[in-house]
Amino acid sequence: MGEWTVSRNNDDDDKPKRKAAKPVARRSALKTSGLAAAGVLGLAAAAIGGRAYQTGALNAFDEGLGFEPLRAWKAQLAAFKAAKGAKTGSPLTGNAKGLIAAGLLAASPHNSQPWKFIIRDKTIDVLADDARNLGAIDPRRREMLIGLGCCIENMVLGASAVGITPLLNVFPDGPEGATIARITIYDGTGQVSKEAEALARRQTDRGPYVVARQIDSKILTALDALVSSASTKLIWLRAETDAGKRFAAATIKATADFIADAELVAASDKWMRLGPGSHSDGVTLPTVGLPPLMTRMALMVPKGLSGDPNQAWLEMTRDVHVATAPQFGLITVPSLDDRESLVEAGRLWQRLHVQATIMGLSVQPLNQLLEMADRDAALTRPSPAATSLAGLATLSDSVFAFAFRMGYSRSITNPSPRRGITEVTAA
Ligand SMILES: Cc1cc2nc3c(=O)[nH]c(=O)nc-3n(C[C@H](O)[C@H](O)[C@H](O)COP(=O)(O)O)c2cc1C
Repeated sequence: MGEWTVSRNNDDDDKPKRKAAKPVARRSALKTSGLAAAGVLGLAAAAIGGRAYQTGALNAFDEGLGFEPLRAWKAQLAAFKAAKGAKTGSPLTGNAKGLIAAGLLAASPHNSQPWKFIIRDKTIDVLADDARNLGAIDPRRREMLIGLGCCIENMVLGASAVGITPLLNVFPDGPEGATIARITIYDGTGQVSKEAEALARRQTDRGPYVVARQIDSKILTALDALVSSASTKLIWLRAETDAGKRFAAATIKATADFIADAELVAASDKWMRLGPGSHSDGVTLPTVGLPPLMTRMALMVPKGLSGDPNQAWLEMTRDVHVATAPQFGLITVPSLDDRESLVEAGRLWQRLHVQATIMGLSVQPLNQLLEMADRDAALTRPSPAATSLAGLATLSDSVFAFAFRMGYSRSITNPSPRRGITEVTAA
């Protein structure tokens, strides 16, 4: 996906240091972020950024209306735990809005949040908001359906923290129906699950991972157990293997092809929120992978001086995302036209990301290869991306629908903003 990411180092990262990640020099970080167009500019920006840092003028990256859903969820967790499972009196407890709050925190392509909800007596319908599709990037709505699956899974995983037992019915009117899922609400009891708590911490991590720190095969086996439907499979590729290297090279090529395609770039830019201000969707600067000080600097540099974000994305993909990942993973479905399986793939991805969060692992989707394959198919032209995907694994009855990297990171991640409940809900 054409998401801008810029390199980071971790000078001001105060988390305990594990084994050092492949170093990303500050010089290259500045270059990659496009801030080093002139040394003078870099110094000026550093001075401004330094001052802002000292004064704390731009201290928090989770302030503003866009973080209200996250704050509401954290408050709910605290209230529910304090009440030890009894009714809390909190407005989220036991009602549809509580489940929707969990759904809002889900991953979605370019943070497009392509969902809307209809609340009835004891049910919530989850629908696609097709106006929020990624256009040329997602011609068959593969990513949109995966994002909707993420939302549904977040609602299921979060239910315990709002005192609800949900009954989930995916595509209640059939796979071509407009309703993606209907959730019937029953009273729940008991403890807040660790998954419900982790919803508040799950974030896409676009920084460098510790390349030398492999993921133990027992962890991969535990994650394999999250596959709960015959329609989805999880394929692991260690980065050091031949297939892992081919995936990395093909992903870099797909990124270069993506940024050479003006229509894809325009579709991606629509969701980029790289300037200061209050946002409620899209990919914001604090989430692209810079360390805090550089984020502040970058937010202060006037737009025209901040370099080419697409080139930065390509460099980051090459030098950080694939270069520092010890592990890649892919999710398969029987067919890319199988809407139910795509929703299931999204549910699996969200389960996986939440478990990874609990285990202290970082993940980042890396979907440019799939996006280029979709683009080539839509334009009915030969597809190097599809050929690369076909060569990655011997799959008799499935195709790749989603790709990601996984590893240990010592980066600081920031939350992405969200639209509020009232904006996405009709009663
Ligand atoms: C279907 C899908 C595709 C995605 N593809 C990418 C990708 O290629 N690169 C990336 O950095 N993030 C990707 N993401 C992550 C989203 O950008 C991210 O979920 C969103 O910005 C919200 O941020 P959060 O996950 O930190 O809450 C993808 C997410 C979904 C659901």
